[in-house]
Amino acid sequence: MNNDIEKVLYTQDQINERLDQLATTITNKYQNEFPVLVSVMTGAMVFTTDMMKRLAFKLNLDYVDVSSYDESSESSGQVRLVQDLSHDITNRPVIIMEDIIDTGHTLHYLKKLLADRGAKSIEICALLDKPDRREVEVEGDYIGFKVPNEFIVGYGLDYDGLYRNLPYVGILKRSVYAD
Ligand code: HPA
Ligand code: MG
Repeated sequence: MNNDIEKVLYTQDQINERLDQLATTITNKYQNEFPVLVSVMTGAMVFTTDMMKRLAFKLNLDYVDVSSYDESSESSGQVRLVQDLSHDITNRPVIIMEDIIDTGHTLHYLKKLLADRGAKSIEICALLDKPDRREVEVEGDYIGFKVPNEFIVGYGLDYDGLYRNLPYVGILKRSVYAD
């Protein structure tokens, strides 16, 4: 598995250090706010579990799963909800936990959905941001790291369902997906 990685971008230690910083900022802001953490499956699973242990305030944990209507054309921008929330978020502050902000379509869709449901506020916390890929305007409120326009795997991010369990973030070798 490690042989398929072109370059390690962020080691486990670097990720831990950055998560500590992000969690301190978020903890300062959300004292007495009682937000719902909405984790976007499956990529944000690792980031969410590691982050939430560092958040020192009352919160509820929830998750959604979304998928593109047409997986073969990734930039169609059509997003659909595959697994809905189990919490009522009316008047609740919401923090969306995402692995990576890429085209922005998923987060654009989710922000609208949660706003329509009456969320009191909506913020985005993402491990990674790949601004070169943006197609719709979405800004993360808390970002771990900016990454180049390369295919990234590890720490929850996959290629074809693989590499999510790598404890670091790295660039996947082109030879793995190009033939
Ligand atoms: N890697 C894995 N999943 C992704 C990426 C990426 O670079 N961009 C959007 N989803
Ligand atoms: Mg994926």
